[in-house]
Amino acid sequence: MGYAIAAAALEAGHEVVLVSGPVSIQPPSGLDLIRVTTAQEMGDAIDARLGDIDMLVMAAAVADYRPAAISAQKIKKGEDILRLELVRTRDILSSLPACRKFSVIGFAAETENVAINAKKKLAAKRCDLVVANDVSRADIGFDGDENEVTFFFADGTRREILRAPKKEIARELVKVFAILRKSVDKTSSDD
Ligand code: CTP
Repeated sequence: MGYAIAAAALEAGHEVVLVSGPVSIQPPSGLDLIRVTTAQEMGDAIDARLGDIDMLVMAAAVADYRPAAISAQKIKKGEDILRLELVRTRDILSSLPACRKFSVIGFAAETENVAINAKKKLAAKRCDLVVANDVSRADIGFDGDENEVTFFFADGTRREILRAPKKEIARELVKVFAILRKSVDKTSSDD
C-alpha cells in the first residue's frame, strides 16, 4: 500500500521520500528511496526529514517488538520450549512532536472492532486521518493487490472505499492531501 501511495503521490506531482522496510516490490522511479530494516532505523529516517515535509503517511506495519538480545552465534537446540524475550520498539507515530507543521495519515490494521480501534488510534497517535483496514480478510490487505478501507478523519467524518485495486485507493488518499493541508494552512494563518 505504501508503494502504491508513493506512486500516486508522484503521479499527482508531489515530491516523495519513500522510507521502506525490506519488500520485493520495485519502487517507482523519481522518488528518494531510503531502505531500512528495523523500526528504530525507520523512526530515525523519518525524524531526519520532519523539517522538510508537509505530509507524513505511515502505511508501514511496523514491528511492535524486537528481540531483547541478539545472539552472535547460532542458537543450539536444547529444551523442548524456547522462550524469546521481546521488548517494545519505538511507536514512531506516537512519538512525533506534538507541535508540527505537517499533516499525519496513519493506518490501522485490525482484525476485530475495526471502527472502534481505528478511532482510538486516530486520537492516541494524533493523526489527521486514519486509514483502517480489516487484515483478518484473506482476499484484501496484506500481500494482495486489492484493499477495502475506511478513512476516519479527525473531524469525526468517515469515508468508505469499497474493494478496489490498491492503486485506486492510493489515488483517493492522495486527493485527500489537499483537504488536510487546507486545515493546517488555515490553523497557521489563524496563529
Ligand atoms: N506504527 C508506528 N510505530 C510502531 C507501530 C505502528 O508508527 N512501532 C504506526 C503504523 O505505521 C500505523 C499505525 O501506527 O500507521 C497503527 O499501526 P498498527 O499496526 O495498526 O497498530 P499498533 O499501533 O501497532 O497497535 P496494535 O498492534 O496494538 O493494534
